[in-house]
Amino acid sequence: MKRSILITGGAGFIGSHVVRLFVRKYPDYRIVNLDKLTYAGNLANLSDIEQAPNYTFVRGDICDLELMRELFRRYAIDGVIHLAAESHVDRSIHDPFTFARTNVMGTLTLLQAAREAWENAWEGKLFYHISTDEVYGALPASGGLFSETTRYDPHSPYSASKASSDHFVRACHDTYGMPTVVTNCSNNYGPYQFPEKLIPLFINNIRHRRPLPVYGRGENVRDWLYVEDHARAIDLIFHRGHPGETYNIGGFNEWRNIDLVRLLVRTVDRMLGNPEGYSEELITFVTDRPGHDLRYAIDSSKLHRELGWEPSLQFEEGIERTVRWYLDHQEWMDNITSGEYEKYYEAMYGGR
Ligand code: NAD
Ligand code: DAU
Repeated sequence: MKRSILITGGAGFIGSHVVRLFVRKYPDYRIVNLDKLTYAGNLANLSDIEQAPNYTFVRGDICDLELMRELFRRYAIDGVIHLAAESHVDRSIHDPFTFARTNVMGTLTLLQAAREAWENAWEGKLFYHISTDEVYGALPASGGLFSETTRYDPHSPYSASKASSDHFVRACHDTYGMPTVVTNCSNNYGPYQFPEKLIPLFINNIRHRRPLPVYGRGENVRDWLYVEDHARAIDLIFHRGHPGETYNIGGFNEWRNIDLVRLLVRTVDRMLGNPEGYSEELITFVTDRPGHDLRYAIDSSKLHRELGWEPSLQFEEGIERTVRWYLDHQEWMDNITSGEYEKYYEAMYGGR
């Protein structure tokens, strides 16, 4: 094997796209997917590659130092792509401790295992930490973009935990000389996203004619990037990024939530053969998310300038593909919303 890479959180949304890309593109790499299979982890996301000879799945918790040590030893890991995290802002408001445990302590545990395995032999190693634009806080509606030097200003327990993990990763670079890279990415969308997040939740609600709960007045702005474009950026940065660096990844694609929701309504209605405007009445303005950041927008020109990356997909095309995928994969969605996939884990792993 040319390389042996530990990908954490590979059964989740973005992680499953990264695992699939690496397993298919690099048959001479060993890809070890370590995932705890929390409510957000779903092995059905990887059913098309689970038999690949260069792929291994390990169920486990990044907070388990002994297990992390064992994985570095058993598989002679020389690269880490760390995606495992609690990822949903609304959940973090109700349960901040779980976020601190996994996102902060889990990342620190993984760093510790990497340091023990690699110290004094840093050459050819890389710890790549996947983070979010939410660490930068909020931008005014009037303009501005987050750059790699924007001061950290997290507002939710989720973004505070991710900010803390970013600092620990950089501290390991600066203190021990560990080769690390951090990337901060904007909102991802596409297949296999857990239906607590805006886009899959609303597509499914339109299909079932359920209310579409828009927080506040729907004026918050997010910068959306197709998940496969994120996975391509991760591949590029893993291989050609400079240790010690941070790269922002974004779509230069800002949408007010309400405009995005109207686009989803139009697209789903058209694909289901409903009359135009049929599902508009489902839009329901509800109490705003506490601490709701007004606007995120990423300047990813450094990544473009230094490594030549740019998003490949226009948003309208990405949304077409995404809506089509969810409508064509109703079983995947129904298994999650009915709890069916939990039974699968119970049978395989004795539950969660
Ligand atoms: P997700 O919630 O879909 O998946 C997270 C995965 O991590 C799940 O498979 C889960 O089982 C696993 N996991 C959780 N706790 C674990 C633990 N203690 N040990 C091992 N595995 C554990 O998340 P996602 O949306 O795919 O996000 C992946 C990463 O990308 C996260 O670090 C997130 O902060 C970051 N990110 C996400 C977005 C986005 O728009 N979704 C944007 C930028 C950055
Ligand atoms: O910016 C990157 C971040 O994007 C990632 O770090 C997070 O892991 C990811 O979950 C995402 O965070 P958001 O909070 O932006 O995503 P979410 O899909 O939850 O919400 C998108 C926007 O839609 C946000 O402004 C809140 C709003 N919203 C969301 C839901 C679930 C609603 O108005 N109603 C809803 O029901």
